[in-house]
Amino acid sequence: MSLSSRVPVLAIDGPSGTGKGTVGSHIAKTRGWHLLDSGALYRAFAFAANEQGIAPDDIEGINALDRETEFAFETTASGEVEIRVNGREVSMRVRGEQGGRLASMYAAVPAVRSRLIEHQRSRRQDPGLVADGRDMGTVVFPDATLKIFLTASPEIRAQRRYNQLKSKDFDVTLRRLEAQIAERDQQDASRTVAPLVAASDAVVIDTSRRGIGEIVEEVDGLLSIRLRDRD
Ligand code: DC
Repeated sequence: MSLSSRVPVLAIDGPSGTGKGTVGSHIAKTRGWHLLDSGALYRAFAFAANEQGIAPDDIEGINALDRETEFAFETTASGEVEIRVNGREVSMRVRGEQGGRLASMYAAVPAVRSRLIEHQRSRRQDPGLVADGRDMGTVVFPDATLKIFLTASPEIRAQRRYNQLKSKDFDVTLRRLEAQIAERDQQDASRTVAPLVAASDAVVIDTSRRGIGEIVEEVDGLLSIRLRDRD
């Protein structure tokens, strides 16, 4: 076993609005574990590429961007992840649906995914890591201690995203958001590399009609059992 593979990982995957980020940040906070919001990494990378006019199929440009750009993520006391690109705070610019659409577009490019994989794996540090995204359990941490795949109905996911974005003063409408999320899910699930899919050994939980506290309790309970069993 390599040094880092002894560090426990909780992988939480699923589409937008299923509660991955909220569940993940609660558990990371109470356990004192590191948090990887991999969507924030894809969002930051796509933002930087787009700003510099690097097209998704410009492999040389993508590689150079990765070499020359520093991406930093800091979890604030409220559990939000602050995103910095070469020291510049860009959270508000990348958090909206336009940022999500760009991220989803660049995330379909194999060169982008392979450049970002090491960034993600390097976050696996003691005492543990909670990683949320689309391919945490399938590709990035296939040996994760526990893999969770969250689902929820499209209406509920759109409503949650709407509430989340409205609370941050984004100009959104529920109707438009429903269509944008459906388009992004379709793109993420149908790409050839690391598509959005549950790992065969993931525990699938439908969060549609359950409160966040209940889900946190269930996932944390499952994690405790796995941690005990591997000791
Ligand atoms: O989790 P999020 O909504 O912030 O992610 C934004 C986009 O980034 C998502 O639509 C697809 C891409 N993404 C990905 O391809 N793989 C991940 N592990 C995380 C995000």
